[in-house]
Amino acid sequence: MKILILGYKGMLGSELVKVFKANNDLTLWDKDQVDITKRDDVMRKVSKLKPDIVINAAAYTAVDKAESEKDIAYKVNGCAVGFLSTICKEIDALFIHFSTDYVFDGESHIGYKEDHSYNPINMYGKSKALGEKMILDIEPRYYLIRTSWLFGKYGKNFVETMIRLAEEGKDLKIVNDQFGSPTYAKDLAEKVKELIGSKKSSGIYHITNSDYCNWYEFALKIFELSGLKPNVKSVTSEEFVTPAKKPTYSMLVNTKLSSMRPWEDALKEYLIETERIDKK
Ligand SMILES: NC(=O)c1ccc[n+]([C@@H]2O[C@H](COP(=O)([O-])OP(=O)(O)OC[C@H]3O[C@@H](n4cnc5c(N)ncnc54)[C@H](OP(=O)(O)O)[C@@H]3O)[C@@H](O)[C@H]2O)c1
Repeated sequence: MKILILGYKGMLGSELVKVFKANNDLTLWDKDQVDITKRDDVMRKVSKLKPDIVINAAAYTAVDKAESEKDIAYKVNGCAVGFLSTICKEIDALFIHFSTDYVFDGESHIGYKEDHSYNPINMYGKSKALGEKMILDIEPRYYLIRTSWLFGKYGKNFVETMIRLAEEGKDLKIVNDQFGSPTYAKDLAEKVKELIGSKKSSGIYHITNSDYCNWYEFALKIFELSGLKPNVKSVTSEEFVTPAKKPTYSMLVNTKLSSMRPWEDALKEYLIETERIDKK
């Protein structure tokens, strides 16, 4: 299979490369090879390559910064997804794209099913919702995969930030009133491969590790497993103000695929693989 991975240097992109590199004709592009916001370049290069599958892991992912960098967030997460959908439709490639729990407003304490209508409350969420709309309007063959709270070896993420701050001896304040499902980028990449193999119909899919928690509980589990003992205080979102408002409940309910392992198990494996804890 001829597969193009965009954003291959990112946290998820790097895991996708590992999962797809065997038995596929892989082309890897990041910003240096093609800036996905440049319409003509994208159309020309992708149509010349003519892949069977385009996996788009390229994105603008700085949630708080997006509040002051709305234009670039909209270009990368919104308009560029339109260009990719158009070219995939033209060459009949399967388009695989990633979106986020942050397209929802977070008011549903039972979480959000795949067909729930989006209502983002911050710029990042709005830019990702625009990307979703582009795909649904243009209608290539597609898997639109929403995921949440990613951690992995190849990018900035909550697990790495917690470990770094604890090792620096910092006192920590972590919010206790935002709930979601931490997800190991490696597990997500493997599930994407399974989804492609399943030949399921085009549509929206929710892929996260199972079970959920709040950020405070997530942090406590990281410290418990890795044996770090920082001073941690649990605070509300009102006490810990960030530029972007975050949804309270953003659990993604998966009604279409088999569920993945619990996030605690995935976290433990991640900490073993990154040599923070011994394999027992
Ligand atoms: N991280 C999370 O917690 C999370 C949660 C839910 C959903 N998601 C979604 O999952 C997907 C993967 O996220 P991630 O955390 O792996 O992202 P990431 O680590 O930030 O990687 C994104 C990659 O895209 C590249 N990129 C940015 N702008 C580009 C452009 N104009 N043209 C080409 N490449 C560009 C980035 O390059 P530079 O680094 O040089 O900018 C980077 O290599 C995204 O769609 C994201 O919205 C992520």
